[in-house]
Amino acid sequence: MKKTIRLGIYGARRGGDLGRAALLANADVVAICDSAMDKLEERKTQFPDATLYTEFDKFIEHDMDGVILANFFHEHAPYAIRLLERGIHVLSECTSNSTMAEGVALVRAAEKSKAIYMLSENYPYMKFNLEMKRICDGGTLGKILYAEGEYNHPGNGKNISNKKYLNYFPEHWRNFLPRTYYVTHSLAPIMSATGAIPRRVTAFSCTNDEPIDNSIATASHISPDVAAIIMTKNDDGSVFKFTAHSSFGAHANSYRIAGKRGQIENLRGMGDKVMLRYNSWQIPEGREEINLYEPSWHDEDSELIEKTGHGGGDYLVVREFIRSITDGRKPDFDVYFATTMASVGILAHRSVLDGGKPYDIPDFRSEDDRRKWENDDLSPFWYSDGRAPTIPCCSINDYKPSDEQMRLFREIVMEEKEKIK
Ligand SMILES: NC(=O)c1ccc[n+]([C@@H]2O[C@H](COP(=O)([O-])OP(=O)(O)OC[C@H]3O[C@@H](n4cnc5c(N)ncnc54)[C@H](O)[C@@H]3O)[C@@H](O)[C@H]2O)c1
Repeated sequence: MKKTIRLGIYGARRGGDLGRAALLANADVVAICDSAMDKLEERKTQFPDATLYTEFDKFIEHDMDGVILANFFHEHAPYAIRLLERGIHVLSECTSNSTMAEGVALVRAAEKSKAIYMLSENYPYMKFNLEMKRICDGGTLGKILYAEGEYNHPGNGKNISNKKYLNYFPEHWRNFLPRTYYVTHSLAPIMSATGAIPRRVTAFSCTNDEPIDNSIATASHISPDVAAIIMTKNDDGSVFKFTAHSSFGAHANSYRIAGKRGQIENLRGMGDKVMLRYNSWQIPEGREEINLYEPSWHDEDSELIEKTGHGGGDYLVVREFIRSITDGRKPDFDVYFATTMASVGILAHRSVLDGGKPYDIPDFRSEDDRRKWENDDLSPFWYSDGRAPTIPCCSINDYKPSDEQMRLFREIVMEEKEKIK
């Protein structure tokens, strides 16, 4: 009989959601770790058989096959490395690494380990993105020349409960997130559909220069940038233009892939619908020049897929991780795919800070490229050892919220227990 995969969860918030998808995909959740007791307690009824831990050092001792890593965005790599060294499979939330040096160390650890490393990037598994990949793979678009990706996720800054949930202390990573770093939801779908790998990057920020109002809406977020417009030249000669995580109006995840003979895009504001169009003189058999349709899943698990978040992407990403463990094969988004995207996010930010200067994206398969970056630990985030950020997180170097905004943040957003710290 096939062995049931036993998973641990590190970071009970997002990790708990992925744990739910893991149960649907027939894995067991045997251990959960979070330093926040309330977050652990919230998951007790969902995972009644799991052992609860507040410290990673004890959690890693638990007998388990793999771990879903969903701790803070900028702190995944050191934990992934420790798990890989112990032979425990890793499904890491994005981003894989927040410094270039961590990217090098992570690739080295994954190459040494017998365990599988996969990035938990769920957006390529959304219905319209799978359809775009299916059409690209079918070849009717011809050679792919260009693609766009936008993860545009504005938030209402006046929504206090959102702030309490997402930005809950001043040094939280979301308050220091440069517009280029959360790049995987924009970039992975077009990399996955086209197979192209970014090799050079340049970026400009898109900045809201309205005067700072002394309101809670902008408090604590150390950036007036609303987007970075990023471009890459890729290994196959194609070009991508994408935004990482932007926040102009209005919400949409949108992608467009253009080939020599035609193009496919999902339509902003129209659910899962896609528009597939061909040159009038190059229409393939069985298609029209203009095809507007709602794609299907083409998957035996369509009912289970629909039960999980992010358009079913949560189920499919966890299922891919579990299947790659049981089949002993490379997962869809391996350590090279993951660290390439992280390098794009990190170096696009350097480009923003440097007036749009292009940067080469390293290939971490190459020892020369690894040596070039192995000591670069610059970061726009607070380090886990308490050090302050070493580079600005936005295009205006000395930007910061006013004292009044920070007072409001402490007063309104922070929970009582945190104010005492
Ligand atoms: N792919 C997606 O669609 C998606 C959606 C939401 C979040 N995420 C990712 O998931 C990750 C977590 O985000 P989140 O929304 O849960 O918010 P978060 O980053 O605020 O939560 C992280 C959790 O990890 C715990 N944690 C952090 N450091 C710890 C430590 N040293 N020991 C024990 N516990 C620790 C925290 O207490 C907290 O509960 C981020 O990387 C985020 O980008 C991805």
